[in-house]
Amino acid sequence: MPAHSNRRTSNFSEFIRYLRRSLPYLEEFHNETFVIKISGDTLLQNNLPSILDDLVLLHRIGVKIIVVHGAHKQILELLEYHQKEVQYYDGRLLVTEELLPIVKQAVADANWNLMTKLGRHGNSIFPFSGHFIQAQKLSFPDFENHFIGEVGEINSHALLHATNQHYLPIIPPFAPGPHRGLFILDASQIALEVAVYLRARKLIMLSTENSFLNLAIRPEETTTEAIKQWLQTQSTIDSETEHQVRALVEACQRGVERCHLLDSTVDGALLGEILTPSGAGIMITNSPYERIRRGRLSDLPMIMEILVKPLRDLSVVHKDYNYLEGNISNFMVFCVDEELVGCCELIAFEENQSMELASLAVKEGYRNRGIGKQLITAAIRQAKQQKRKLLFALTMQATHVFLSSGFKEIHPDKLPQKKRENYDFHESLIYGKFLV
Ligand SMILES: CC(C)(COP(=O)(O)OP(=O)(O)OC[C@H]1O[C@@H](n2cnc3c(N)ncnc32)[C@H](O)[C@@H]1OP(=O)(O)O)[C@@H](O)C(=O)NCCC(=O)NCCS
Repeated sequence: MPAHSNRRTSNFSEFIRYLRRSLPYLEEFHNETFVIKISGDTLLQNNLPSILDDLVLLHRIGVKIIVVHGAHKQILELLEYHQKEVQYYDGRLLVTEELLPIVKQAVADANWNLMTKLGRHGNSIFPFSGHFIQAQKLSFPDFENHFIGEVGEINSHALLHATNQHYLPIIPPFAPGPHRGLFILDASQIALEVAVYLRARKLIMLSTENSFLNLAIRPEETTTEAIKQWLQTQSTIDSETEHQVRALVEACQRGVERCHLLDSTVDGALLGEILTPSGAGIMITNSPYERIRRGRLSDLPMIMEILVKPLRDLSVVHKDYNYLEGNISNFMVFCVDEELVGCCELIAFEENQSMELASLAVKEGYRNRGIGKQLITAAIRQAKQQKRKLLFALTMQATHVFLSSGFKEIHPDKLPQKKRENYDFHESLIYGKFLV
């Protein structure tokens, strides 16, 4: 086979492997709402087209996306062009009556540009913008003449209707007040409030401000508490990054399950973060990153991948794809984020109210960190719930993991008749745990 053909085959199989790995994520996030904040400077970046390609791809596969965009950089550039002085009040750009028309124009331009670029992705994309929120004027004790607001009411009905109809709502950082006037809002606050109010599955912020991202914080350290403590120790973090991180932490604490900060200069950061277990940015979460759940059909490729070696070296009993497909609901799987890294099967026998724990396997690279034991503990719980008297496993190699989970070697005559008939016990040891 020529060299280039070999290369093509390996690229192809790698592509297929990654595609299969992303399937659980695609299934998990179908019809879920993601609020994605795109900072003003991201909108001016050269790689904006690929960011929008990725965003549209997520939209097309059924993720309900709401985009909130910033325009800080655009506002500063236009103010500079008009030779206007820029002032800040309490960390917010001070928008006076004199500056308001310029600021409005900068935001509207940014909004229109984004809409136009998204609109170029074909007929199935319907980006549309509007006043989905109402602003409330911020009250500063010693300063009245300004147009700085915060999020007041959110028109959740319009947003939900839009996403259910496969529209792609784009929220700009300005909104009308309850009586009159237009107020400039902070895009991170809009994204946070919308995500919380709509119970979004994810809040994602894309930004070029990456002093936070440059620090190698590992996934397990990104709980809200760890981030809050970490923020207290930081003196050099830039204020914009800190502001975004605080908004993400708050969103998590107010019920958004997973919040992400991504470096928008990294090609593919959005897809990498959402569709791979290791992600591409920082994920902040309140909920457990690891969990055990019942198997489902989309897990089959990953279960096959995990079982392939144990099947080959006979440490688990041979089962083909058809068997797995027909019995997938008997499987329990261990996921790290959405990546499936371990599995086991529970087979019920009515004869002596027993249950077999079979096909226990943990992906190489994830072994020896307690996953096998957690699967066994979950299996014991399940067997108890089903009022089974005995949970047993046949194994040649995994003695340690069963012994350390309280199993003991038992005699074959304790097994159901059906199992005794079909098995050569010289090939394996029998471990059992009596549950009553
Ligand atoms: C058996 C298997 C599922 C264990 O999964 P795991 O996630 O690595 O196991 P854990 O990390 O939960 O380890 C549980 C215990 O076994 C011990 N252990 C794990 N691997 C071990 C090894 N290779 N040798 C000795 N002890 C080992 C751990 O130290 C731990 O002991 P402790 O509770 O006293 O601390 C995994 O090794 C595997 O997939 N093997 C191939 C398939 C197989 O043999 N399946 C069993 C068929 S029923």
